[in-house]
Amino acid sequence: MASKIVGLGMYAPPKKLTNLDLEKMVDTSDTWITERTGIKVRHIAEPGTANSDLCDKAARMALDDAGVDPADLDIVVVGTLTPDMPFPSTACFLQAKIGATQAYGMDLSAACSGFVYTLSVADALIRAGRGKKALVVGSEILSTVVDYTDRSTCILFGDGAGAAVLTECPEGEGVLSCHLHSDGNLWQLLQCPGGGTVHPYSPEMMEQRLRSIRMTGNETFKHAVLKMVDVAGEALDRSGVCIDDVKLFVPHQANLRIIQVVGKRLGIPEERVFVNLDRYGNTSSASIPIALAEAKAQGRFAAGDLVLVVAFGGGLTWASALMRM
Ligand code: ACO
Repeated sequence: MASKIVGLGMYAPPKKLTNLDLEKMVDTSDTWITERTGIKVRHIAEPGTANSDLCDKAARMALDDAGVDPADLDIVVVGTLTPDMPFPSTACFLQAKIGATQAYGMDLSAACSGFVYTLSVADALIRAGRGKKALVVGSEILSTVVDYTDRSTCILFGDGAGAAVLTECPEGEGVLSCHLHSDGNLWQLLQCPGGGTVHPYSPEMMEQRLRSIRMTGNETFKHAVLKMVDVAGEALDRSGVCIDDVKLFVPHQANLRIIQVVGKRLGIPEERVFVNLDRYGNTSSASIPIALAEAKAQGRFAAGDLVLVVAFGGGLTWASALMRM
């Protein structure tokens, strides 16, 4: 057996942070941000919001879309770099919130590749007979780890959640292949160093702003382009399809220029590349499931169409999945 996506959902908190708002916070401009990133607006969770609150809203929408009762779920996997707590897992909080009483839950950390990693793990568990129905979520409150005095990173990130419900299906339908990669030698390019065992919580650690995202942007940019093109090609080759067969390409939403270069190198026309980062910024593991939920609502793919998702993030990690919807 294989697995297929039968429902999609998303949630973004109502409060918005625009480029004009950022102009008042750091030395930047709407023109610079728009030209260099394509981002206009990000959504920001109110203080005190738990990541699992965002997961809850996206998950309920996906379960409604799928017509699946949460009590019938076997597996809950949350991809996130901003969990509710070090433990229990955000997946366990989510399980309790939605009433997925028969499921087992776990979190997975792969930064911006988090959703494709969780999709792959849930697909593999279903194929291995460890459950028939899975809830797969990518969700972040990145505003809790953004340094709003650092103009090179604070303009990029937003909060949000996306969810997918997977069910068992015959081989040849649904998720056709998943491809996961990482290179820990490149960890320094993209990191949030504080709050773990290397730099535990302390007033000094917070003063040094170690509990926030640090990025070598232009190096990361180059790796993102190369690795996303490679891993997209890997998915196409494995299934023996060409890019012309793909109805919709859904890349991680980090930077419009990355998306455009990758699209061009793959040879896919712009109208078949999904972009929504102008309205959400980079929501890390949430970006692909939010994009999939919006693409479905907009009728950008139909039953039977091939959709290719490709992600890239801290680790470094990169991943792709080819799905027949
Ligand atoms: N406003 C105005 N100027 C700025 C800003 C800003 N917000 N930020 C940086 N600059 C300046 C820099 O100081 C630099 O000035 P200088 O030339 O005087 O030194 C100049 O703009 C160019 O800086 P670069 O960093 O070279 O700009 P670049 O074109 O590379 O854009 C960006 C930066 C947007 C961060 C880009 O490199 C990028 O998107 N990188 C990839 C991000 C990514 O893919 N992340 C992966 C996922 S994230 C995750 O896993 C959590």
